[in-house]
Amino acid sequence: MGKPLDAPLGSNSLSVRDNRTGKSYSIPIVDNSISATDFKAMSAPRAPGEREENETEKGLRVSDKGFLNTAVLRSEITFIDGDAGVLRYRGYPIEQLALESSHLETAYLLIYGSLPTKSQFQVFQDEIMHHSVIHADAEQFFRSFRYDAHPMAILTSALAYLGSYYSQANPSLQGQNLFTKGDKASLAVMDKQIYRLIGKATTLAAMAYRVRQGREFVTPPTGLSYTGSFLYQMDYLGQENYVPNPVLEKALDVLFLLHADHELNASATTVLQTSSSLVDPFSAIAAGCASLYGPLHGGANEAVIRMLISIGKPENVPAFIEAVKKREKVLSGFGHRVYKTSDPRSFIVRKTADEVFKITGKDELLETAMALHDAAMKDEYFIKRKLAPNVDFWSGLIYRAMGFPNDFFPVLFAVPRVVGWLAHWRQMMLQTGGVKIWRPRQIYVGETKRDYVPVDERIAVVGPKKTPRRWNTLGFQSGRILRRSRASTQSCEFRRVAGAIVSR
Ligand code: CMC
Repeated sequence: MGKPLDAPLGSNSLSVRDNRTGKSYSIPIVDNSISATDFKAMSAPRAPGEREENETEKGLRVSDKGFLNTAVLRSEITFIDGDAGVLRYRGYPIEQLALESSHLETAYLLIYGSLPTKSQFQVFQDEIMHHSVIHADAEQFFRSFRYDAHPMAILTSALAYLGSYYSQANPSLQGQNLFTKGDKASLAVMDKQIYRLIGKATTLAAMAYRVRQGREFVTPPTGLSYTGSFLYQMDYLGQENYVPNPVLEKALDVLFLLHADHELNASATTVLQTSSSLVDPFSAIAAGCASLYGPLHGGANEAVIRMLISIGKPENVPAFIEAVKKREKVLSGFGHRVYKTSDPRSFIVRKTADEVFKITGKDELLETAMALHDAAMKDEYFIKRKLAPNVDFWSGLIYRAMGFPNDFFPVLFAVPRVVGWLAHWRQMMLQTGGVKIWRPRQIYVGETKRDYVPVDERIAVVGPKKTPRRWNTLGFQSGRILRRSRASTQSCEFRRVAGAIVSR
């Protein structure tokens, strides 16, 4: 850094000349990346009239709103080539894993780095299934939610709540290097939280489902697969020898595997950001779950179905596409920050949908979804912006056909994604050089220093974004809230009994 531009052509470095000062710098390129902190050495005196908040004399800042081109860590977990539509977990193509593996085997792969042997898998599976049982007190917690609470609100809260049971897994109580030591005891504590979180994710999700259906909770069964146990915990109603439908169980397992990880998406980044303060893993996973809830991320599968319902029939697709192009609507389930071609998972989901429809019958929204897909893929607006279907475009149709309520779809994304979040969390805790707290910079563009004004001397600042509105508890606005609550209750159109739809 700060050296003259003498690096020979072909060397692995970047030459930068700061035209404010005439100084030249050579920045090393490592793994096709440059370090943002190298730019901090490039300082200049503040120009006349320049705001002091620019802190020009303290060195250049690198700005990247929305992390469009910033690598925040080195990872060995998942690789995506967004132009070629490639997704690999630990080097294995997603297509091979979906065909040959299972969600739990893939979880082992994602977290520990290699495919398990038979006996390694047996231990892992046993531990996870053994840790699926929840303390009986948790029932009260679930019953404290309103009847129409969104299940993602319940799940997010439940994951944080779960952490309150495990003081031995809390760095605030046990010492801040609890998970970063990397010794045998520390790794064992880490493994236990991994078993707990994966094992209990299905139980918490099923409890969120049952409490809204008015069903008693059930103890996780023994002898079923991970997804089989999940279906049991949702659907069991006292039948003798209950077994989930094997086709639906397999389909859900494939969907779980496809959703297990996806590199540094918003929720995985949230988990890492949260974990960087060395908080306990339950709190970090709850934070990830909250991030996933949003309609641009894991909430997109729910948004797709609401969109398809609003379109209604294939004849209405052209008008919808026009509305999207005028930016009045968003085509949920299309577009991706990394993929600039079809998401490779979307092909597998589409194939899985056909398997499920053989059992459940075709969903009435399928025709509309296909018409929408075909119209968007041919339209210049989407072609130019490289917008193609992502994993959420088809998955909602499967969940709907299987009888899950619309607002439960993001939960079906969150449960398997616990695996990916944990893989990233573990990798970060054990990374060489320890954990550095994630504390990004900002570019301050607000008021410069000003003095406090006594209340009688102030001139009112008004404007829609500048003044808070009065929110009258008895007035029109609260009436709207009440009406919305009722509508969302009515939107729970589906009832599931024993793995099959019984009524719509
Ligand atoms: N419908 C209409 N226009 C879109 C869409 C869409 N779904 N996605 C992107 N665009 C347009 C966007 O308006 C922009 O146009 P312009 O350049 O003219 O301003 C251009 O395409 C680039 O989009 P962007 O918003 O800069 O892209 P991004 O990388 O910031 O956002 C995204 C990615 C996934 C948030 C976005 O594509 C989107 O909102 N998609 C719909 C929601 C969705 O399906 N999310 C699930 C993502 S995959 C699973 C997961 O990670 O959870």
